[in-house]
Amino acid sequence: MDSIWLDPRPGIATDLFVPDGHYDAVVAGAGLTGLVSSLLLSRAGLRVAVIESRFVGAGTTGHTTAKLSLLQGTTMQEIRKNFPAEVAHAYMEGNKEGQSWLLRYLDEVGVPHQSRDAFTYAVDASGREQLEKEAEASSEAGLQIDTLEDPDIGLPYAVAGALVLRDQAQFDPVDVLTALCNDVRARGVKVFEDTRLTGAGNSAPVEITTSQGLLFADTLIIATGTPVLDRGGFFAKLEPSRSYLAAYTGAPDGRPFPQGMYLSVGNPGRSLRTATRHGKPVLLVGGNGHPVGAGSPSAAARDLDLWAKEHFTVAERTHAWSAQDYRSVNAVPFVGPMPRGGGRIHVATGYNKWGMTNAVAAALRLSTEILGEETPWGAVLAHRTSGAAALAETGKFNAGVAKGLVTGWAHALTESNSRVAEKAPDDDEATAPGRTDGRVVHDGVHPVAESIVDGRTCRVSAVCTHLGGILTWNDEERSWDCPLHGSRFTPSGILIEGPATSDLKPADDRT
Ligand SMILES: Cc1cc2nc3c(=O)[nH]c(=O)nc-3n(C[C@H](O)[C@H](O)[C@H](O)COP(=O)(O)OP(=O)(O)OC[C@H]3O[C@@H](n4cnc5c(N)ncnc54)[C@H](O)[C@@H]3O)c2cc1C
Ligand code: FES
Repeated sequence: MDSIWLDPRPGIATDLFVPDGHYDAVVAGAGLTGLVSSLLLSRAGLRVAVIESRFVGAGTTGHTTAKLSLLQGTTMQEIRKNFPAEVAHAYMEGNKEGQSWLLRYLDEVGVPHQSRDAFTYAVDASGREQLEKEAEASSEAGLQIDTLEDPDIGLPYAVAGALVLRDQAQFDPVDVLTALCNDVRARGVKVFEDTRLTGAGNSAPVEITTSQGLLFADTLIIATGTPVLDRGGFFAKLEPSRSYLAAYTGAPDGRPFPQGMYLSVGNPGRSLRTATRHGKPVLLVGGNGHPVGAGSPSAAARDLDLWAKEHFTVAERTHAWSAQDYRSVNAVPFVGPMPRGGGRIHVATGYNKWGMTNAVAAALRLSTEILGEETPWGAVLAHRTSGAAALAETGKFNAGVAKGLVTGWAHALTESNSRVAEKAPDDDEATAPGRTDGRVVHDGVHPVAESIVDGRTCRVSAVCTHLGGILTWNDEERSWDCPLHGSRFTPSGILIEGPATSDLKPADDRT
C-alpha cells in the first residue's frame, strides 16, 4: 500500500530528457532537498536541471510524517554528546531558518499547513531523564522548551512526563513537492523523471552519467537520500533506518483524535499526528523503526497496527506504508562539498527523520555556498571537528557492517539455508496463487535471491550491487533489502532506493 500522500499520485508535469544538455547546476533527487535547492539556484539566475530516478516524491519525502518541528525527540542531546555547544547552536539556527523559510514559502504559493503544538513524551523514569537532558540541550542551543509535570497532553494513555513546543506545523508533503516542482519548471528548470544518476567526473564541467544519457554541469548536487557516489564513503557514516506508518479513520462513537504532534522517547518509539482525508480526520501512527534488512518487517507493521487499535478508537486502517531515512553517526547532517569532487559536487544527507527542517536548511546552505557566500551557522557546521564519541560511533557502526557482510555470506552459503536452486521454481506448492515468500538459496557459490510473489517466482542474484552485501527478504514490502547500507530491490531485481546505482543481476549471470 502506498503512503496516504501518494494516494492518488498527483499528476505532476515534468520534462522529456534531452541528452548532452549543459547546465549551471544539476540536482539529483526530486525530494524536498533537491527541489528546494533547485528553486533557490534558479531564483539566483542559474540554469538548473533536476534528475530523479523514479518520480517526484518517490523517496522519503513522499512517505514521511511531515511534522515541521524544532522539537526533535532527543536530537539536541545527541549532538551535544558529540560536539561543542556552538555546533548544537548552529544546527538549531539552521533548522529555525529552514522552518521559517518553508512556512513563508507555503504561504506564498498557497499550500495549506496547520499550526500544531509539538510534544515529546516519556512513559517511564528513564524517558523523563532524557526529556530533562533534551530541554537543557535545547535551551543551551537557543530554543526554549516547556517541561510539563504530570501532563495531560491529550493522549488516551498515561505519560510520565512531556516537553512541549507550541505553534509548530504539519502539512501534506506531496502538496509541497507538487508546488515546488511547478514553481521550478515555471522558472525554466528541467525536471527529468526516470533518470538515474549513475556516475560523475571531477573536471569542469562535470560529466554526469545517467540512465538516460550524459549531462554536463558546473555543479552537481546529490540530494538522493543516501549519496549514490561512493566518494567520501558517506554510506559508511550513515545508519539507514526503516519505520512504519499507518492511517486510521475514527470510530463514530470514539473520542476525537488528539490534535498535537507527538513523539515518544525510548522503546518502542511512537509518532502521532492527524491529517484530513476526504474531509474527515485521520490519525497517523508511526514507529517500530529498525535498521534496514533486519528483523521481520511484517511483524513490525503488525505490532504497530495492534498498538494503534489498543490505544485509540479507530474504525478502519486506510493506509499502511514504510520508509527509510539516514542517521549520520555523529547526529549532525552531512552537507557540503563531497570529498574528491573537485569542489563541484555537493551532498546533503543524514537528517535522522528530521528532514522537513533539515532538508530546507541544507538547501539554503548549499545554494548560498555554491553562489560564493556562507551562512553564519553553515560556516560553523562546515568547520566543526569530529569529537571522540563521534569517531567511536563510526567505528562501532562499521564493525557491525563488516560483521554483517561476513555473516551474510556465510549464512547464504550454508546448506541449512539453501535449497538446490533448480528445484524450487516449478514446485507446485511454491507456485500456488497468492503464495508470497522469499529466501536466499545458493547455486554453487552464487547466492540466489529466490522469491515467490502471488505465485510468480523470480530468481536474481542475492548480492547487492553496491558493495556485495547479501540481501534479506522484506516480508512486508516484498523487496530484497541490504542490511549493510540500506539499498532495496524489487523481487525481479530492480533498484528501489539506497546507495546502489544498478539493478540486481539475473541469477544465472556469472559475470
Ligand atoms: C517514517 C519516516 C517519518 C518521518 N517523519 C518526519 C517528520 O515528521 N518530520 C521531519 O522533519 N522529517 C521526517 N522524516 C524525515 C524526512 O522525511 C526526510 O529526512 C526527508 O524527506 C528527506 O528528503 P530528501 O529530499 O533528502 O530525500 P528523498 O525525499 O528521499 O529524496 C531523494 C530522491 O532522490 C531520488 N534518487 C535516489 N537515487 C537517485 C539516483 N541515483 N539518481 C536520481 N535520483 C535518485 C529518490 O527517488 C528520491 O525521490 C521522516 C522519515 C521517515 C522515514
Ligand atoms: S547497500 Fe552497500 S552493500 Fe548493499
